[in-house]
Amino acid sequence: MKKLFGSLFGGSKKEPLTATIQPSGQTFQVPKNTTLLQTALNEGVNFPYHCTVGTCGNCRCKLVDGEVKAIMDFSYTLSEQEISEGYILACQSLLRSDVVVELEADANLPNHAMETFNGTIIDTHMHTHDIMEVTVELDRNISFTAGQFADIGLEGFERHRSYSFASAPVDGGQSTLCFHVRNVPGGDYTQWLFEKDRKGERFELHGPSGAFWLRTADTPILGVAGGSGMAPLKSILEDALAKNVNRPVTYLFGARAQRDLYCLDEMQALEKKWPNTFKFIPILSEEPEDSDWTGKRGLVTDFINDETTGFPVSQSHAYLCGPPGMIDATMVKLEEAHVDLDNIHYDKFLDSRQLDD
Ligand SMILES: Cc1cc2nc3c(=O)[nH]c(=O)nc-3n(C[C@H](O)[C@H](O)[C@H](O)COP(=O)(O)OP(=O)(O)OC[C@H]3O[C@@H](n4cnc5c(N)ncnc54)[C@H](O)[C@@H]3O)c2cc1C
Ligand code: FES
Repeated sequence: MKKLFGSLFGGSKKEPLTATIQPSGQTFQVPKNTTLLQTALNEGVNFPYHCTVGTCGNCRCKLVDGEVKAIMDFSYTLSEQEISEGYILACQSLLRSDVVVELEADANLPNHAMETFNGTIIDTHMHTHDIMEVTVELDRNISFTAGQFADIGLEGFERHRSYSFASAPVDGGQSTLCFHVRNVPGGDYTQWLFEKDRKGERFELHGPSGAFWLRTADTPILGVAGGSGMAPLKSILEDALAKNVNRPVTYLFGARAQRDLYCLDEMQALEKKWPNTFKFIPILSEEPEDSDWTGKRGLVTDFINDETTGFPVSQSHAYLCGPPGMIDATMVKLEEAHVDLDNIHYDKFLDSRQLDD
């Protein structure tokens, strides 16, 4: 009788079920009604995550064997192709059977302890009319991997906001950090930051966090960023230069108009020192037709082709960062260009509403 019910209702009722993480081989039992991510973290697995509510995509991993039940439909965050290739969100997965899940294996996989620091804003300057560089000093050193971010908590505000480290990490850790913050109309944190001089203001920082970092490979690198999405790509590329990474790079940077472009000197410096080909291509979507701009016009997605990049896009590893709409559109283009999903990495700058969903 038991067996009959088992087959009628989708398999064995064996509890608790077991998860195995590849390639480490870590195996643990997952209690009923507890997510794969929660259990993995309790078990000490170095599992990337951020929002824990199924919106950021950081806990994306591949289901190699077994079955999970999605608490929230994965298609809200993952593309059709990601889902069809077996990707799941661990924070939204309850086990329906024993499972085997594949996480990335890379010598550079970030493994920094997440800690809480006290910080002070020590300097600010405007990069553009709405992007500010904020330099902060922490009470002690933090170590992070280029491309990662930290959560900032301001007193009097309900929840934290995330900001990506905007420069290459220093070996052995550092207490001085800088961030690029774009002023978001109607945004609580950014309104606070931009309304007056905030030097000397104190805050809490929790981190580092995030799965956006340069994977070890010798393939071309395709960077795509918009607005303050510049920050983590700049950090990744400056760090890669310091580490003598010798791969062709094409970096498509989307902005509305010339007044939104920034870090051009830094990009030029990278271009000069980079040991391989390095193309930084700004693309403007709303630059007046009659202006003196002679560069590219349109959307970054219009330029994802071999002719612009100078290498076969399909062979590249893509790193995307910025507003969610830009990333989703770029993902579609990259999938059409047959870039392997395992080779597409992104950090969506979701706002507090999107992260709360
Ligand atoms: C991993 C990650 C890294 C990030 N890195 C960076 C970075 O390096 N630089 C950067 O500039 N940003 C970054 N962001 C975005 C950043 O965390 C904040 O979301 C951003 O600064 C806006 O914060 P805010 O408090 O000003 O806006 P919020 O208060 O969060 O509001 C955002 C928007 O929502 C609207 N809104 C808020 N509440 C409501 C409501 N109830 N109904 C309707 N509309 C509403 C506001 O008007 C505003 O337009 C990152 C985000 C993530 C997830
Ligand atoms: S941690 Fe799972 S989607 Fe954000």
